[in-house]
Amino acid sequence: MTGAGRGASVSLSKLERCYDRVAAVAGVSLDILSGEFLTLLGPSGSGKSTTLMMIAGFETPTGGDIAIDGKSVVAMPPYRRNIGMVFQNYALFPHLTAADNIGFPLKQRGVGKAEREKLVREALALMQLPDHGERYPRQLSGGQQQRGALARAIVFKPRLLLMDEPPWARSTSSSARTCSWRCVAFVPIWASPSSMSPTTRRRLSPCRTVSPS
Ligand SMILES: Nc1ncnc2c1ncn2[C@@H]1O[C@H](COP(=O)(O)OP(=O)(O)OP(=O)(O)O)[C@@H](O)[C@H]1O
Ligand SMILES: [Mg+2]
Repeated sequence: MTGAGRGASVSLSKLERCYDRVAAVAGVSLDILSGEFLTLLGPSGSGKSTTLMMIAGFETPTGGDIAIDGKSVVAMPPYRRNIGMVFQNYALFPHLTAADNIGFPLKQRGVGKAEREKLVREALALMQLPDHGERYPRQLSGGQQQRGALARAIVFKPRLLLMDEPPWARSTSSSARTCSWRCVAFVPIWASPSSMSPTTRRRLSPCRTVSPS
């Protein structure tokens, strides 16, 4: 937890990702303050997912820099960045149950079995999946899979949460959606998952929206 418990700040400077000669992300510069909730809005293919993947560390930039709380993280592996991410396709491991999916980042971080089970139980309850822990992803509905992916992203109390196509972007028929613009979101983590009640989560609303293009 950083910024007096208000979440991490993020600074992107001239961030680039090229695939062969195609620029998926072409020089994005953006400062996201600690405590700020921000959505990135742009047409399909404009580089939103690629930007999030680079911040989380699953893609390597071909240019520019990413600083979190003032420190460059470009050379840091994903698990050391302490960032939670909900992937666009959820990316739940098909061979693991919901509980094991949610416990995965805790196991990676060496959290003991008893503590892991407690945190997973809390996360399942928070996401209104208390009786779904033993099910495999294929046995969950789309919305349940999405909540499972969100639980996995917050269970280790990350300093920043990245959501690719957050739930409210899918379930609303906003003007952004009807003109086929889509969004991703950066959410500062200012509270532990167990203290983030469903009411608090419902109250989250974008305070700044930017377009990557
Ligand atoms: N591994 C890859 N190899 C080559 N091109 C890629 C690769 N990944 C992404 N791209 C291209 O980079 C561009 C940006 O992709 P990205 O997935 O970031 O877009 P997006 O804004 O998230 O789109 P959407 O709203 O459809 O999810 C697209 O043109 C895509 O085809
Ligand atoms: Mg995308």
